[in-house]
Amino acid sequence: SIALFNGEFLPLEEVRISPLDRGFLFGDSVYEVIPSYAGRFFLLDAHLDRLARSLAAIRLPNPFGREQWERHLGDLLRHNGAEPTDGSTPPDLGLYLQVTRGVAPRDHAFPDVSEPTVLGMVSPIRPLGPAVREAGVSAVTRTDERWGRCDIKATTLLANVLARQEAVESDAVEALLLRNGRLTEGAASNAFVVRDGTLVTPPLDSGMLAGVTRDFVLGLARGEGVPVEERGVTAAELRTADEVWLSSSTRELLPVTRIDGEPVGTGRPGPLWTRLHAAYQAAKP
Ligand code: PDD
Repeated sequence: SIALFNGEFLPLEEVRISPLDRGFLFGDSVYEVIPSYAGRFFLLDAHLDRLARSLAAIRLPNPFGREQWERHLGDLLRHNGAEPTDGSTPPDLGLYLQVTRGVAPRDHAFPDVSEPTVLGMVSPIRPLGPAVREAGVSAVTRTDERWGRCDIKATTLLANVLARQEAVESDAVEALLLRNGRLTEGAASNAFVVRDGTLVTPPLDSGMLAGVTRDFVLGLARGEGVPVEERGVTAAELRTADEVWLSSSTRELLPVTRIDGEPVGTGRPGPLWTRLHAAYQAAKP
């Protein structure tokens, strides 16, 4: 595939990053994952807004204005087949975007001068298969051991990596993270529970990422007349929920039907998930 690297387009395998890049040395960098369907971005503005917030939070000047970002990212999609010449449908692609504080002699404090490193690359997004739509997926619960600024979409993801690996080793697709007995989010997703017809999700100030998909799903639910509550969710409420869902830009809306080996609700994707999943599919470009 073709990558965007510091303003240039080149094959991904030809990108060379310095060992002195602060993204590599310190995880001093932020990222976004932006979905595109058949060559068209989905919720691009919300992702670029969040990127701007993440950059501001780590005091890194945004390397591009909004129009420049849009042009670069549109070009990146085109370089990766967004406009096929043979009339075929362009692929669904997740666009990964990372901005680091750049290359400088190793020192924890910010360098006096450095140019940010900007990398963009793509990977395929696959729609939920029939097995997942029929049976849902498994999750495990883990203690949320991350730092206090999970609102920043930083690449410093070691705690998330360890939690996700433990999930995979338990044949689960995600780790649901609990801090002080309350649900925060998944290792790389936001979480929802359905209780007595009400959609409940932890509030944004509970130490998690403001998911673009989360926000979109809440809007869809409200539009469908579903009662929505943003409030703390205890571990007990999670275990006794009628339905549990995960959301992210690459996994869309995923029904969780087992948690720590126990069935959620009926053990099948629930009726509200079926409704919201359909609404989500209908809203995609
Ligand atoms: N992760 N919470 C965490 C910790 C995440 O890493 C993600 C997304 C989300 C969902 O956010 P959004 O709906 O904006 O994608 C929540 C991306 C997909 C990733 O790391 O690959």
